[in-house]
Parts: sequence; C-alpha cells; structure tokens
Amino acid sequence: MSINLFRKKSIELIMKDRKAGFSDAEIEAEGLKRVLTVKDLTLMGIAAVIGAGIFSTIGNAAFQGGPGVSILFVITAITCGFSALCYAEFASRIPVAGSAYTYAYASFGELIAWIIGWDLLMEYAIGNIAVAISWSEYFTNLLEGFNIHIPAYLTMDYLTASKAHAEMLTAGTDLSVISEKAKFAAQAWATAPGSGNFKFIADIPALGIVFLITYLVYIGIRETKRATNAMVILKVAVVIGVIILGFFYVKPANWDPFMPNGFEGMMKGVSGVFFAYIGFDAISTTAEECKNPQRDLPKGMIYSLIICTVLYILVALVLTGMVSYKELQVEDPLAFVFKNVGLENISYIISISAVIATASVLLIFQMGQPRIWMSMSRDGLLPAKFSSIHPKYKTPWFATLVTGAVVAIPALFMNLTEVTDLTSIGTLFAFVLVCAGVLLLPKEGAEESKHKRFRIPYINSKFIVPLLFIGIFIVFKEQILALFDYNGDWHVYKDKLPYFLFILAAIIMSVLSFMKNLSLIPVLGMLSCLYLMTELGYTNWLRFLIWLGLGLIIYFSYSYHKSNLNK
Ligand code: ALA
Repeated sequence: MSINLFRKKSIELIMKDRKAGFSDAEIEAEGLKRVLTVKDLTLMGIAAVIGAGIFSTIGNAAFQGGPGVSILFVITAITCGFSALCYAEFASRIPVAGSAYTYAYASFGELIAWIIGWDLLMEYAIGNIAVAISWSEYFTNLLEGFNIHIPAYLTMDYLTASKAHAEMLTAGTDLSVISEKAKFAAQAWATAPGSGNFKFIADIPALGIVFLITYLVYIGIRETKRATNAMVILKVAVVIGVIILGFFYVKPANWDPFMPNGFEGMMKGVSGVFFAYIGFDAISTTAEECKNPQRDLPKGMIYSLIICTVLYILVALVLTGMVSYKELQVEDPLAFVFKNVGLENISYIISISAVIATASVLLIFQMGQPRIWMSMSRDGLLPAKFSSIHPKYKTPWFATLVTGAVVAIPALFMNLTEVTDLTSIGTLFAFVLVCAGVLLLPKEGAEESKHKRFRIPYINSKFIVPLLFIGIFIVFKEQILALFDYNGDWHVYKDKLPYFLFILAAIIMSVLSFMKNLSLIPVLGMLSCLYLMTELGYTNWLRFLIWLGLGLIIYFSYSYHKSNLNK
C-alpha cells in the first residue's frame, strides 16, 4: 500500500460533510445550537484572553524586562495580529468547528492537520492546566484572607515543594534570603504525608475548579454563554479600574531606565506575555454555534485582540510605574502593587476578580478542546465517540469529559512555569502553521469570489520581505555573527540552536516571497511567530519535539488507517 501523507480534504468536502444533505434548521435540531453573535464572540475572545497572563505571568515578565515589557506587549500583539488576520481568513472561508485543525486539512493535507490538531492540545488542554494552577494560587490566597487554611501540601505541585525544600536546606539558618512563597512551599514538603522523597503533594483546588468548569461545559452552550458574558464584564471593569486608579500612584521615576536589562532581558518575558494573548483564536472553534460565522468570527477575533492589547499595554505601564520592576517577581502582581501603596481593600477586590477571570479562561478552553476533537473524530482520525452529541444538552459530551480528565489530573501535579512555556511554544507553532496555510489555500472559484466575506488584504511581499531581512541583518549583524562562536560550553550554546532554524526560515521565505509574490501578512505572521518560538530556548523545543513525535506515532498506528479519506 502506498502512503499519501499530503492527501487533502477539499473545502467543498469539508462544507459538504458539515451539511450532509440537511438544511440549516435540521442541522440545528440535530447538532449544536446556532446562538452566538459578534458581541458574544468578542466577549468570548476577551474571556479567553484576559486571565492568568495579565493577573500573574506579567509579574515575572516585568521583573525581567522592566517597564520595557510594555514594548514586548506591543511586539507580541503585532505578531498575534498577523495570526488573527490569518485565522479570520480561514474562519470566513471554512466556517466549521475545528479551528486551525480544519484549516490545515484544506491547505496542507491530513498529516499536517493531524499535527496541528495534536499541537492544539498543547494550547487548550496544557494551557488550561496552567490556568487551573494559577487559579488555585489566587483561590488559596483568598481563603487565607478569610482565615480558612487548606494544608499547604494540598495546594501545590510536588516540584515546587521539593525545590523550596532544597532551597531551605541550602540557606541553612539564614532565612532572610527565602521568599514567603518558598517558605510556604517548604512547609508543604515538611507536612506532607509520605516519607523520604515519596510525598503526597497535590493541587486539590486546581482539580476542583476543572471539575466544576467541565460540568458547566457539559450541560451546554447557553448556560456557558451567559456565565461567560457576566464574568467578562466584571473582569474588564476591574482591569480598567486598576488602570485608572493605579495611574494616580505612578511615579515616573520608576520608568527610568525603561529597559534596564536591554532587549535580551525584555525578550525573556516572551513566554509569559504571549501566554497572556492566547485565546483570541479559541472562538474559531465555535463556528458551528455562530449565527453568521463568515462575518462575525473575524470581527470577534480582531475586536477582542485590539481591546486586550490596549488594556495590557496600559496595565504594564501602570504596574511598572507604581513600583520598581525589581519588586515585581510575584505571582499576584496586580494585587501586590496596590497592597504596596497601602490600598489593601483594592488588592483584595483584585484577588477576587483574578479568581473569576481565570475561571472564565478555563471555561472557554474547556469548551474549545472537545470541539477540535469532534472535528478530528468526524474525519475518522479519532474514535467516533469523540463526535457524539448529547441528546439533551446538544454538546460533544464524551470529548468534554475526556478533556476534563486530561486537564484535571496533570493540574494536580504539574509546575506552572513549565506548563506555561509548553503552552506558548505549542500555540506559536499552531500560529506558524495557520499563517503558512493561508499561503497554500486554493484560489477561490469564480462563484465563491462573489460571496461577501472577510478576506485578508493582499500586499505583495516581493521586495518588502527580502529588504526587511537585509535591514534586520544589518542592524543585528553582531548578534547574528556571535551565534557562530562556539564557546565550548554546550549548556549555554544549545539555547542558540533554535535561532539557526529561524535564520534558515527567514532566508527561505525571503526567496519565496521574491519569486512567488506571496501575500505579506501571512509571511510576516509566520516569521514573527517563529521568532518568538526561538526565544523559548532549547529545553522547550526538545519537549515540544518529543510531544510531536508522540503524536506521529498515534497518527501512523491508528488515525491514518481509520481516516475517512480511505473510504
Ligand atoms: N491568555 C490566557 C490567560 O492569560 C490563556 O489566562
């Protein structure tokens, strides 16, 4: 049997599979309900975006980059903007659930579609593990405020506790060098049941919130939509409140120097900052629940991205203006800065909002993941059960329950930083493929091109991309040439390896742009996402490649043979 790795599902077939001879009304009666409008989609976008990133990971990014982290928010927003336009192009051309997975099926073929479906698991499920862990931290802090104490060993992961224990041993009697957070984690280690290195340490609140959210998603989109709208309005109001109130406490001296650790220091925050933007694309998985997906999905994505970008830049400026960036290496930076200026009550309100904000992020991703699996299952790449719809609630119930388990169990044991890094690298890769996919979409037929829908504006990249490449090479010549100096220390050098991949990709895309007059926006989207990926270092690349390898094993041993394209 010959193996065809690039067999494609045509756009016509994707749409036909979707309709399968039924009218829209019949599809609605049989399947998912069409209830979402552009306002709902924008709110869902914001619900997915504003969460653990702005309430939590921004702290570490600001500590690394200083006030300059606001520039990183701009750079990342531009990168996400290119990708959002590419997502929008796909969403309006192929308005079915499945997000980047379905888009890849039409443009690259089945193998890449599988890879992207597998990779989206990193964005949705692994991402949600990070959000659940962050939720648990705020929640535990809040309970402490109410004088309710959960044993420390039931509120965190094993690695955090064991690292803190080792830190305490090294510090010996000088406890002044140990942060309060680390003392708490070391206490978890000391009090946990078990002996030696075998200790029972698990994040029970993280498990609890995933259970609760899975239940909401299971019982249906209407309930989910109402809950989402209410949560979003509340969290946006709080973020705006932080900006306005915080503005009065800004000391401009804190903004000087603006980039204390230079460009390199600023780029160390990439993972946390990018994590904050993840989510605007998640709404593309609801295409089958939209009233008018071709018009509303692109608008929803772009509106939510613009709103979040403005809020983020302002929050970053206020945060780094209120205190010195050196103090921001905390997990609850927004609450922390207000406590720092004596506004305890405000800090308390912020903590409550963080709990709500991160819960709404969980909700969106917990809803998106089953819908991707549903599409993969319809194509035969996953067992049929993943696309079975609940007779009463009209939701993909089995896929929803599996998602709950896949997120809840690791959330008990995994470490926040590592999970955030994995989510960021996986999502950036999905964005690279979506941008590349736009370049490969088949040309519209005469009939199709008459339809009114969103289309990505065409700008010829012929000269722009090669000139940009040359310009960047001239500006960063020293840094680029320094990559070739091997200093004999593999542990340091290995982090440089991803840059070579980026340079190679940039050369190839410059040549292709020149030869084929490619559309500028997708090319810039691909290259900017790939660049952010290179900043995430060797270890994350390695983990990511292992993850992809595992996906390929499943594809070749199961999905390839079961695919509907074999029929
Ligand atoms: N952007 C989402 C968050 O920050 C994933 O929680």
